[in-house]
Amino acid sequence: MNTVDDVIGVLMAKGSNAYGGERVTQLEHALQCASLARTTAATPSLVAACLLHDFGHLVGHLIAGVPTKSLHGADDIHQYVALPFLRDLYGDAVLEPIRLHVDAKRYLCHADPSYWATLSPESQRSLELQGGYFSAAEADKFIQQPFASDAVQLRIWDDLSKVPQKPTLPLKGFVPLLEHLAKK
Ligand SMILES: [Fe+2]
Repeated sequence: MNTVDDVIGVLMAKGSNAYGGERVTQLEHALQCASLARTTAATPSLVAACLLHDFGHLVGHLIAGVPTKSLHGADDIHQYVALPFLRDLYGDAVLEPIRLHVDAKRYLCHADPSYWATLSPESQRSLELQGGYFSAAEADKFIQQPFASDAVQLRIWDDLSKVPQKPTLPLKGFVPLLEHLAKK
């Protein structure tokens, strides 16, 4: 992606796709997650990461050999698929929370004994494909990485962003933020 318009174009073109086995579309999910971030003191970079964290779901079909849906019984590695498409526009403060948001789920399963039960059935199922709970050593190593705490916060909003018909800020409301953060 060379411009913010390219990114918005993908969100508009592919955002009506179902969000895995959930009852919201990809765009509804992205907007709910970014809107939750926007209502807190989240940095603009983290708000953008929330909006774009599942961008890999929207562009995975462009990479040969990547399963387009974890529903097909394989990990779609969408947290990595997004990165080459966004790297020309955004730096680590946006990209690293995206890259780490699946591992953040594995981390939270270890760190919070009550967390797993709060996940949707689809998210519980994909957890197994993504490697399951982190061990204590894996969790310790994970949380020491730069932007890991942002990824954990993103993950918490991600899990809350599956509410059918929930009002959100419109996509156009995030364009100035995406433009401001984009590498010139
Ligand atoms: Fe998500």
